[in-house]
Amino acid sequence: MPTKITPKIGFICGSLRKQSINKKLENALAKRFTRAGAKCIYIDLGEYDLPLFHGDLDTPENLKALTAKLRYCDGIVIVSPEYNGGLPPVLKNAIDWTTTDDMTHFHDRYWGIASCTPGPMSGIMGMRQINYILNRVGTHVSPFQVGVGNADKAFDADGELIGAPGASIADNLVADMLARI
Ligand SMILES: Cc1cc2nc3c(=O)[nH]c(=O)nc-3n(C[C@H](O)[C@H](O)[C@H](O)COP(=O)(O)O)c2cc1C
Repeated sequence: MPTKITPKIGFICGSLRKQSINKKLENALAKRFTRAGAKCIYIDLGEYDLPLFHGDLDTPENLKALTAKLRYCDGIVIVSPEYNGGLPPVLKNAIDWTTTDDMTHFHDRYWGIASCTPGPMSGIMGMRQINYILNRVGTHVSPFQVGVGNADKAFDADGELIGAPGASIADNLVADMLARI
């Protein structure tokens, strides 16, 4: 009889801010994945303290720990704010550093993207850039990208994602990632 394996889903947040609404979205998505039977792992970029990348720097000690954590996961969801129509530098810097290591965390894992904003849009421009970069590094990305606008109305008192269409896209993302994995 085949053994049932618990899928491991990593979460990376593009905001290090304590009161981050993207961390709120990350938590809401993790609840959905947990209910669907996954184990969730938070990958806090702030813990790795990666310097701003340039080609003369030695490899930071923490880089191997970060890529090992990514490889430990079967799927990874990036939840990130949009900054001036793009992705935050802390996220781009981490992606760039991890491409200097073995690339299996990109090639052999399935990735998801989400974004939360206080504004009426959904972080679509930032998500588009993240999607482009993930494709560029050879990753398979879920087509269900969870864009959440009007953040003040998007969560209930328990932190559950309730706003439309974000909540239903989140269900699609969970189902798609777990089916693929
Ligand atoms: C430098 C900067 C640029 C921003 N640009 C955008 C933007 O292009 N689109 C948007 O929807 N919100 C933008 N915002 C507002 C952020 O969505 C908002 O500050 C959000 O709370 C940041 O995410 P966080 O709460 O997870 O840290 C920007 C915020 C900052 C600090």
